[in-house]
Parts: sequence; C-alpha cells; structure tokens
Amino acid sequence: MTTGITQPTAIGVLRLPERILFGDGSFASVSVEASRLGRNVLLVCDPFLLNSPELDAILRDLAALSVKVTVESGVIPELPLEHVQKLIDSHRHSVPDAVVAVGGGSAIDLGKLIALGLSHNGALNDWYGENAIPFPVLPVVAVPTTAGTGSEVTGVAVLTDPGRDLKVGISSPYLIPRVAIVDPLLAVGAPASVTAASGADALVHAVEAHTAAVRSSDWSAQLPVFVGQNLLSSPLAIEAIRLIVPNLPRAVRDGNDLDARRAMARGSLLAGMAFGSAGTHLSHAIQYPVGALTHTPHGLGTGLLLPFVLDAVLPTCIPQLEQIAEVLDVRESTAEASARAAIDTIARVFSEIGLPADLRSIGVDDKDVSRIVELSLTVKRLVSNSTHPPTSELIEGIVRAALDGDRARPVSYGTTDQNRIHA
Ligand SMILES: NC(=O)c1ccc[n+]([C@@H]2O[C@H](COP(=O)([O-])OP(=O)(O)OC[C@H]3O[C@@H](n4cnc5c(N)ncnc54)[C@H](O)[C@@H]3O)[C@@H](O)[C@H]2O)c1
Ligand SMILES: [Fe+2]
Repeated sequence: MTTGITQPTAIGVLRLPERILFGDGSFASVSVEASRLGRNVLLVCDPFLLNSPELDAILRDLAALSVKVTVESGVIPELPLEHVQKLIDSHRHSVPDAVVAVGGGSAIDLGKLIALGLSHNGALNDWYGENAIPFPVLPVVAVPTTAGTGSEVTGVAVLTDPGRDLKVGISSPYLIPRVAIVDPLLAVGAPASVTAASGADALVHAVEAHTAAVRSSDWSAQLPVFVGQNLLSSPLAIEAIRLIVPNLPRAVRDGNDLDARRAMARGSLLAGMAFGSAGTHLSHAIQYPVGALTHTPHGLGTGLLLPFVLDAVLPTCIPQLEQIAEVLDVRESTAEASARAAIDTIARVFSEIGLPADLRSIGVDDKDVSRIVELSLTVKRLVSNSTHPPTSELIEGIVRAALDGDRARPVSYGTTDQNRIHA
C-alpha cells in the first residue's frame, strides 16, 4: 500500500552519554568515574542493594578516593512528584558535585530528577514535556540493574503527578547521564517478573525506534527530543532486536544464565541508545493511560500492546518490519508476509515470558476504552512518531483488539485512510 505521502529525506541523530562502559565487572569502575566528577557525590541506590556487597564496595572505593558520599535509597515505585520534590529539598544543603544512580529504571530516573532539581530552584513541573530544561544539570553516572529501560543513556525521566491523569515525562538532552556503566552481572538476581517486564520494554524500545515515522527536520531550529526513525538509530535498534528476541525467554526461565543476561544487558543498552533519539510510538502512548488505570508495570503494558500496534500500522511500515524479519531469520516469500512473521515472532516471545495476552486480564473494561483513546492522543511526542496518522479510530482499533487479545480484529483507520486490514 502506498500512503501518497512523500517521505522526508532520511536524517541521522544520536545523543549519548560522554562515556558508555559495558561488560562483566564494569561495576568496579563506578567509583573512579564518579571521582572524576567531584569530591562530593549523592548516591541514589535501589533499596534492593541496601546491605549488599555491591554497595559496600562502592562506599569503600569512594572513601579510598577521598570522595564524600551521601546515600539516598528512597526509591518509591512510580516516583510520586511530592516524594521526589521532598528528596530534592532534603539534599539541597549538601551541594553534591554529581549524582550516581544504581538500580532499576525507577532509581535511575530518580537520580536524574534529583540532579535536575539540585541544579535549579524551580519546581519539577516547570520542566514537564520536551526541551523545557534551559540549562545543563549536575552530571549523572547511571548504573542499571535491570535490562531494561535504557534510562542510563536517554534524556528521559518519568514521574507521577497526582494532578495529572497520566505519568509525566521530562525529556531533554540535558538529562542524558554523563556516564553509563552497564554490568550484566548486576541483573543476575532480578526476579523473573522484573526480568520479563523490563526485558519486554527493552524489546519494545528497539522495535518502536525502528518502526517510528521518518520525520523531516529543520536544522536551524531546536530538534525535538524524539526525531523519529533515523539512519544512526536503526542499526542499533536492529542489533538490539537480534540480541533480545532469543535471549529474553532464556533470561526469564533461568536468571543465572549469564550469556542470556549479557545479551539482554547489551540489547537493552543498544535499544536505549536508539530510542533516546528516535523515540518510541503508539505502544508507549497507549501504555501511559493503561498503566495509570491498572497500576501494572510499564514493560508489561508496552509489551502486551506492541503486537496489536504493529498489526495496525503494518501497511505503513512494511520495509522496517521486513528488516526485522530478516534479522530474526523468519523471512517469507513476500514483504508483507515477512512483516507479519516478524510480528508473530515478537508476539510469541511475549507469550513465552508470560505477559498477559489481553487488556481485560489486567483489569481494563469496555467502558475504559474511550478515555484510554482520549488520553493516549494527548501524548503528542509519541503519537506524532507513528507511521500512520494517529487518528482516534486507529487508537481505538488497537485498544479494542488488545482488550480481547484478538489480533485478527479489523482496524479502521479513520478519516485519513479508510482502508481496512485483516491480520
Ligand atoms: N527514563 C527512561 O528512558 C525510561 C524508559 C522506560 C521506562 N522508564 C521508567 O522506568 C521504570 C521501570 O524500571 P524497571 O523496569 O527497571 O523497574 P524498577 O526500577 O521499577 O524496579 C522494579 C523492582 O525490581 C527491583 N530490582 C531492580 N533491579 C533488581 C535486581 N538486579 N535484583 C533484584 N531486584 C531488582 C527494584 O527494587 C524494584 O522493586 C518505570 O517507572 C518507567 O516509567 C524510564
Ligand atoms: Fe518503555
């Protein structure tokens, strides 16, 4: 199917930390990297690491390097605004030179938000949305223990504001950590449910970065944080997909499978590097209201939704899906059949790792559909990254198909395109 829309010329954009260190044992470099940034460090530490040998090692090594450390382990899931603001205020007096954040995506996002809050006297809601931070923030050393959100390399932090219906994102290149240290061994103890949800999210990041719209750019203006699928992000996304698809089920089945953990850590890092500039799209936009309604983990929702999103946008991104089929070695005789085989393979991975098959089983009901559609469409930076114009009919079709776990359900595209597809 042709869209009749002239594609903009392809561009390339990557924004990354100054240093990315990857490998078994790279955790040992945290103290040296932190000491390069100053003599006074705030260590945001995931609570699961309290009283662990890893935390002891950092504290010992920083002391040996004459770096003063304050430990903050108040990581509350979903990062409520009031709590984050309270932590910022409580650390203002200590004037750290840098923030080190060790933990899951929530701990790393908290570290970024504290670095932002300590860099200025404003309130966090001054910086909601895209490119609203006008200045650099304290440097952050980010060390993920899940694979993962990719937050260690992205300019995004997410929190919950009770005054808003959805989780809010603060997105700015200034939020990209200065250093990312990815040690696959840190994720070895993560429970299967955390491995599944965070690993599903990593796969969604890679697939959505590669299937995002190609957008035109005005080089003389400030670029959006998410620029769309691009020449530099897609090779990273493709490699991430190649790594994650076979290794996610292995890591969920056996958390001590070190090769699977290594592949997942590398895959989620590459996926973060890709989506940090390309962005994600409809699974993420729809997960925001679904997550708010059901209080289910972010990656569980994005993973559950992805096959339904891809079925719906398939006619507008066949070449990208065909490339995914190629890297997964599931090519068929036609481009469209290959695209469908790619989606089926991804759906199988999510089913294998135990993600729910439909929205009803996580508590969504028919009466919630219109509100989910309405709220999804408000997440402009994500819906504008869709290859298909994000009509309310399109989003409703995706949500209704996902509600019943019915991938064969026809999707109506709304006023911009009346074609229907049958998966
Ligand atoms: N900033 C970004 O670019 C970005 C991208 C995607 C998601 N996110 C956000 O990240 C959050 C999800 O992060 P997540 O999936 O890493 O989960 P998480 O950080 O919320 O952690 C989930 C649970 O696992 C525990 N945990 C983490 N690592 C562990 C380990 N190695 N061993 C044992 N327990 C461990 C944590 O203590 C927590 O209880 C969401 O709030 C989401 O909005 C941010
Ligand atoms: Fe995500």
